[in-house]
Amino acid sequence: MMENGSNLLEIRDLSVEYRTRRGVARGVDSVFLNLPENKTLGLAGESGCGKSTLGRAIMRLVPYPGEIINGDILFHVKEDIITKHTRVDSGLVNIMELDEPQMRALRGKEIAYIFQDPMTSLNPMITIGTHFIEIMKAHDPLIEEEEAIMTAKGILQSLGISPERVSDYPHQFSGGMRQRVMIGLGLALKPKLLIADEPTTSLDVIVEAQILEEIAALKEEYNLTMILITHNLGVLAQTADNIAIMYTSRVMELSSAIDLFEEPLHPYAQALLQSVPDVTQPEKQLQWIPGAPPDLVNPIPGCMYNPRCPHAMEICRTDVPPLVKVQDGRLVACHLYPGE
Ligand SMILES: Nc1ncnc2c1ncn2[C@@H]1O[C@H](COP(=O)(O)OP(=O)(O)OP(=O)(O)O)[C@@H](O)[C@H]1O
Ligand SMILES: [Mg+2]
Repeated sequence: MMENGSNLLEIRDLSVEYRTRRGVARGVDSVFLNLPENKTLGLAGESGCGKSTLGRAIMRLVPYPGEIINGDILFHVKEDIITKHTRVDSGLVNIMELDEPQMRALRGKEIAYIFQDPMTSLNPMITIGTHFIEIMKAHDPLIEEEEAIMTAKGILQSLGISPERVSDYPHQFSGGMRQRVMIGLGLALKPKLLIADEPTTSLDVIVEAQILEEIAALKEEYNLTMILITHNLGVLAQTADNIAIMYTSRVMELSSAIDLFEEPLHPYAQALLQSVPDVTQPEKQLQWIPGAPPDLVNPIPGCMYNPRCPHAMEICRTDVPPLVKVQDGRLVACHLYPGE
């Protein structure tokens, strides 16, 4: 379960705010998460619940006007990282306390992020091989181009793309191939942690299944710890060891994938799972969740899910339930579960 083994990443009381003209919106609200090494954590929840904001906060890349306003992000650096400009010693570092040169040394090398929109992340003017060369040179100016191309070819091959295609330009690839290239670029520096934000969402189900299989194989090959962000619970059923269900910027439930799919505890997790089609029971009526999440600029008191929750009690309208340990070490933020 969650406590076993060592954690590569520990997030403590992390909050992010977006200062908009309409007011302040909490994009991430008091999130606690542990990420056991070599495991995949799935981050799921409806659009706008804070998945990308949380993922980007780990890299300290929250887009303007967002700002991390509180929290610690503890990361275990395995080996000293030394670049021309800075160094980060091995051991436990608090990402919140690193300066910008140290952050740049960490990004890509230790933590890689695959952005939600692959089209905007590839440069149409340069070949795929040059993308690899640029990423690798940015971290090690002395690296030979030939070596970078060799690495690129090896990675492309394991992603099912012919190695010769390193000299092609992004527009010469299909959407699925471009997404594979993005994953490959994320792996170029052999990161410890890979954060993949909706890596297969824009693809058809066959390509999606292939890519998920390739990601799983790469995870083994590279000894990766992963955060897989998706609103598709079906994807997580195939890939995740543990799953965090988010709602209105908070983690509502954190369980092993097996426990969650067998018996979701939080009413929101229950509703979310009932909205997933089940091919083995096509006659089963799909449930959708009535209502919509509240506006983050005008948050409601208590549990933000209470207006939609069939089990809402008086306390749910006044007190925010903290994420507490309930049965078998599962974590749930709901007044129905008072905790151990
Ligand atoms: N640039 C921004 N300015 C203002 N508010 C923002 C900005 N980006 C995100 N937010 C707010 O923060 C909340 C979380 O957004 P985020 O993009 O993290 O959600 P998400 O779970 O990744 O959604 P999706 O599944 O649609 O990608 C949203 O409610 C959104 O309104
Ligand atoms: Mg997102």
